[in-house]
Amino acid sequence: METKKKSSFTGSLGFVLAAAGSAVGVGNIWRFPYLAAKDGGGLFLIVYLALILTFGFTLLVTDVAIGRRTKTNALHAFGSIRKNWSFLGHITFLVPAIIMTYYSVIGGWILKYMVTYVTGAGHQAAQDGYFTGFISSKAAPVFFMLVFLSFTAFIVYRGVEKGIERFSRIVMPGLLLLIIGIGLYALTLRFEGADGQLRTGLQGLRVYLVPDFTGLTFSRFLQILLDAMSQLFFSLSVSMGIMITYGSYVKKDVNLNRSLSQIELFDTTVAFLAGLMIIPAVYVFFGTEGMASGPSLMFVSLPKVFEAMGPMGQILGMVFFLMVVFAALTSSVSIMETLTANCMDIFHSDRKKTSLVIGALSAAASVIICLGYNVFYFEMTLPNGTAAQLLDLMDYVSNSFLMPFISLMTCIFVGWVVGPKWIGEEMEASGHTFSRKKMYNFMIKYVMPLVMAVLFLQSTGVFSLF
Ligand code: PHE
Repeated sequence: METKKKSSFTGSLGFVLAAAGSAVGVGNIWRFPYLAAKDGGGLFLIVYLALILTFGFTLLVTDVAIGRRTKTNALHAFGSIRKNWSFLGHITFLVPAIIMTYYSVIGGWILKYMVTYVTGAGHQAAQDGYFTGFISSKAAPVFFMLVFLSFTAFIVYRGVEKGIERFSRIVMPGLLLLIIGIGLYALTLRFEGADGQLRTGLQGLRVYLVPDFTGLTFSRFLQILLDAMSQLFFSLSVSMGIMITYGSYVKKDVNLNRSLSQIELFDTTVAFLAGLMIIPAVYVFFGTEGMASGPSLMFVSLPKVFEAMGPMGQILGMVFFLMVVFAALTSSVSIMETLTANCMDIFHSDRKKTSLVIGALSAAASVIICLGYNVFYFEMTLPNGTAAQLLDLMDYVSNSFLMPFISLMTCIFVGWVVGPKWIGEEMEASGHTFSRKKMYNFMIKYVMPLVMAVLFLQSTGVFSLF
């Protein structure tokens, strides 16, 4: 994705695949289910779906249209439209830099699970305490993180975009099929808990789908809204410059309306199905109390599902974690690629040297994050009420704090400085109608700035002072 390879997507399929490769990753499979479980299943689901169709769409359109119209990356895009707005491009750079520090840590966890299944030790992964034992050990998480990060850096170093696209074609549909299969199986589970209560997968499905409004207060609703919104930023890879850069590679004749809807649909479907695969199973094995367990959710509940499947489960577990490793890799490559491309631009350095330096810096930062579960262990309560360690704190800063701020500024910029017409023209540049234009204009001018301002304040915790 060097500057000279501009417009490298041959058609809309190339763009959709690359963007979906960046969008579909651990955000969908690991992050979405644990947030949904924490925030009351069905309620979170409805809020998320409503947000995707309105806010998610608006943000995706904005990023991609800015990229295609300015034909440049995020660093320069804003400044090239209005000189004194170039600061916004520079802030967007912070987000991938922060995400990179912990993304490869999670990539390492997934890799570890894949190796566990490949070596036939899948049964161990289903034992209680396996995951905590692993992440709190000193060497293993660092080792697996470094392996994952090396793969990422190697791909960026070589600049092999095409290979990744070819990969995505096989991995994405395969992953989808597996998730559906495991999800359906999870619905057939039955388990009698220590309290003698029999819980079934179908009851778990109700927990996932039916919204529970009991004890819902306004501030709790705001928390859920912030969680859903930060998930949306993360999952769609918006408001961090990546989609602006991808947009700059898209040809003028591509119908953005259709391509963006496809990306939106695919990303959301994978997340929804991942929830279907994980939440009923958590309910069956751990009851409603198990729902709040946060980042460890996928790593403790899925191995139990595979265990329940018998010998077949061990093979499925292996294939599953292998595919998730690939999905995570395509995302982490897109993050490191952005960092590398930006730095090449700032320092006028070549790809090879830049990617090596970025790789080394990311490795150093990620080691610290890994050690956040032992040497640097601390526990704090975030403004959204979750108990957080170092990794969760970084996640919070990038997704719940910085991204609402960047979106707020972007919406003010597009809605009030440049005017939404500028985006609309780009959406129709291929000769197709911008079908959600009215909604877009209304969202970007009025709704988004207001909601983003509220969410940004909520993320700082000021509301809890009142
Ligand atoms: N969207 C990716 C996911 O869902 C993560 C990601 C974040 C990718 C930021 C690129 C940039 O896992």
